[in-house]
This record gives sequence, structure tokens and C-alpha cells, in this order.
Amino acid sequence: MMETVYQPYCVDPQLELLIERIYPPRVCIDNDTFPDCTLLKVDSANKHGILLEMVQVLTDLDLVISKSYISSDGGWFMDVFHVTDQFGNKLTDEGLIHYIQQALCASRREGSSRTARMCNMGKKGLSSEHTAAEITGTDRPGLLSEIFAVLVELGCNVTAAVAWTHHKSAASIIYMEEGLNGGSIKDPMRLAHVQEQLENVVDAHNGEGETSNVRLTSPSAGRTHTERRLHQLMYANGDYKLCCCRDDSEICKKGCTRTHVRIESCKEKGYSIINIKSRDRPKLLFDTICALTELQYVVFHAAVSSNGTIADQEYFIRHKGGCILDSESEKSRVLQGLVAAIERRVSHGLRLELCALNRVGLLSDITRVFRENGLSISAIDVGTNGERAVGSIYVTDASRHDVDVDPQMLELVLKEIGGSVAIVQGPSNRDDQTSSSRVDQGTKVTRVEDKPKFSLGNLLWSQLERLSSNFGSIKS
Ligand SMILES: *[C@@H]1O[C@H](CO)[C@@H](O)[C@H](O)[C@H]1NC(C)=O
Ligand SMILES: *[C@@H]1O[C@H](CO)[C@@H](O)[C@H](O)[C@H]1NC(C)=O
Repeated sequence: MMETVYQPYCVDPQLELLIERIYPPRVCIDNDTFPDCTLLKVDSANKHGILLEMVQVLTDLDLVISKSYISSDGGWFMDVFHVTDQFGNKLTDEGLIHYIQQALCASRREGSSRTARMCNMGKKGLSSEHTAAEITGTDRPGLLSEIFAVLVELGCNVTAAVAWTHHKSAASIIYMEEGLNGGSIKDPMRLAHVQEQLENVVDAHNGEGETSNVRLTSPSAGRTHTERRLHQLMYANGDYKLCCCRDDSEICKKGCTRTHVRIESCKEKGYSIINIKSRDRPKLLFDTICALTELQYVVFHAAVSSNGTIADQEYFIRHKGGCILDSESEKSRVLQGLVAAIERRVSHGLRLELCALNRVGLLSDITRVFRENGLSISAIDVGTNGERAVGSIYVTDASRHDVDVDPQMLELVLKEIGGSVAIVQGPSNRDDQTSSSRVDQGTKVTRVEDKPKFSLGNLLWSQLERLSSNFGSIKS
């Protein structure tokens, strides 16, 4: 049993509002102090979940956070982020700065709903008129390909798809609209039919004790941030169970060895202290704070830093109810949850960048060719931007080993994907120019070693102006 040593810090919402009116949040953007990064300082009255919301804003813009100090004791929240854009540049764009200021304050003001709405708007050209399919199940080669094929058969246009695989679990969120008339699927009969067909595909190869779940959500239901939702789905599907790190000294089983989590309790001060060492990667801070929030922990202090390779995160936390983390079972729950949250996004295999003229069945065709050639998709993040389908696809061999895919095989597969496919080998290839000019007629799949060119963040960037002007009109 956990011992309650502290009162919950949550205050009456009315009081929160009052405090907020007296002390509105402040965002300070400082480009002078450091030569190589922008300092982002935020301070405001505290509120549960505010840290996650703010990190979410920065993460959705693909900003890289190299250092962060967080302090939120006593009803007050202060945070300093050292950030650059994904190319390592300081943030100098006026529109971007304005957007960040407004978005951070908005997340403070209205909670995640506003941020989610905003993201849906900017992201992948998603309007609110989409049906979302949330699918979880046992990971197997070809699963995504079968899902996309069924959706083509059913006449549903996929407008965005995000999927992760981790250990034996797979989770995906697919946004789609009616292929004929557009918009979400409204007819309840049809909705049930689509759901049933998807279930058939996902359940088809379930072994004993393996479960899967398909849920279609309408646009009206308040949607959670997509990646936060993926974390929830994976967790609910039990992908953390194989992350068996019970003890800091124990070398964990395959797949978890790169993340080390240590939990200590400091009874006098009333905190649990969590130290995490892992390979650094984009969105690590978001994933970690997301896990702590989902596990119902509140971060009071944190120091996060990275030297480019290794990230070191230290959190002083308490349970939402005020307790520290002192039972062994609770410790191991938090440990597993954190390790899984950090590991599940680590994409295995080779990343391909997709940029293609969109057409009915494009994703279904691409994923089918991979499957037929013994390649498996370990993660996907694609969307549509106007006429084009853009995004990243990670492929591995069917055994899901973290080995490189045979390049010759890959070449063959890429050729097979379409008659008019232009293949570009790496971003700096001389043929790039000529290929790009042909892109309008075909599909371009690029093998890349560097950071993705497409990302949700990029699309958000392209919408900055519109978003900023929207903010203008709601300003209080
Ligand atoms: C569905 O996708 C196809 C191919 O991209 C497009 O031609 C069609 O207009 C789309 N349907 C709607 C309603 O947008
Ligand atoms: C970062 O730190 C780790 C361990 O603390 C070290 O092994 C690694 O070489 C460092 N990397 C850089 C780029 O300094």
C-alpha cells in the first residue's frame, strides 16, 4: 500500500481560474543567451497536465529539446527549454515565435482540447471530417497491408495513418473519409460494417489468448492527441509486459537494454526520484512525460539534458493523489511503463520517405509489395498534403530483426511499387533534381539516413500563418 504523505496539490478549478486571471502565463523567447539554441522560458500558475501539453506543442513542431529544467512546486510552474528546430537552427521566424507563444498560452488556458483541435487542423490536412479507426492487436507481417486493402475495398480513403509495433504488439490510428462523397462515415450500418470487416482482418490470425481491438470514432468525440493515444493503445495492449526491467542493475531482456530506469524514494522530501538514461532521439521528452502522466504521476522538478547521443532525465515526482512511489509492485509498474514508452517509438529497420501523387489504393499497393517480398513494416507515419501522400515508412525483414534490409532487394521492391516510380537513393543524390521533376507523374520513395523531411510538424509549419491569425481572433 502506498502511504499518503502529502495532500493532493490539485486545487478547486474556480480557484485555478482566479489565480490564472491574476497571473496570466508568460512565455519568453530568448535568442541571445546561447549561440546555438533558443531559450524558451515559460511560467504560469500550475495545473495538472500542463507540462505534457506544453511539451506536446513543442514536439508537434518537431523542435529538438536538448535541455530542460522544470520546476512546479507550490502551485507555480516554471520551465526552461533549450530548443532548436529539427535542423539545429535557432528559432528566429517571427510567425513561429508568435505561434509558440500563443499555443503555449492556449494550452494553459483551455487544456488539451484546444491543442488537439489545432493539431488536427494543421496535421496532415486533417479537417474534423474524418472517421478514425483505432486498431490494436498482435503484430504480424502484412497486417497493415491487409488493413489498407480492406479499406480500399470498402471505398474508404485513407487520409493519414500512424502505426507502431513493439514487442508483439501493433497499434495504429487510421484517419479516413468516404471515398465517394468525402466526410466521415455517418451511416451507422455502414460504420458497423467497416468495423466488422476490420475486425475480421485483425482477428484472422489470432492465436490462443491473443486479442485485438478495433474502434471507430466519429469526429465529434473529443479526440486525444494522436501520438498520446497511440501510447495509450499500446499500453492497453500490454506491450510493456515484456519490458521486464525489475531492477536497475539487471540487464533487461532483448529490446529494453538501451533504456535504464532507476527509481528511488526520498521520504523526507516526499518525492520519488526517477532517473532515466537512454539513447537520445526526437520526441523522447514527450514520450517520457506522456508515460508519467498516464501513470498518474505529477512532475514537480525535472532536469533533462542530452549530449546528442545519450539523454539523461531526472524527475522528482509524486502520485497525483500525493503519495510517493514506495511499493515494489508500483515501482515495477512505473518502470515497465516508462521503458515501454521510451522504447516503443524507436523505429526499427530502414526508413523510407514517401512522396507520391495520391490515388485510391496507394498505401495498400505499397504495403502489399513489401509484404509479397518478405519485408515487414515496423512503423508508419503518413498523411496527405493536398494532392500528395507524404510520410515515413520503416521496413524490416519479416522476422522483425533489427537488421538492415538487403539494399538490392529493396531496390527491386521500390521498382515494383509503380511503373512510373522514381527512386532516389539518398537525399544528396545528383539525380535528385531530375527525379523530382518527374515526381508529379509518379511515386517517389527515398531512402534516407538523415532526419525526415516530412513530418506532422512540417505540415504544421506550413499552416503557421493561418493558425496564428486564428489565434488573433480568439485572444482574450
Ligand atoms: C478519394 O481519393 C481519390 C484518390 O486520391 C480521389 O480522387 C477522390 O476524390 C477521393 N475522395 C474524396 C471524397 O476526396
Ligand atoms: C555522451 O555521453 C556518453 C555517456 O555519458 C558518452 O559515452 C558519449 O561518448 C557522449 N557523446 C558525446 C557526443 O559527447
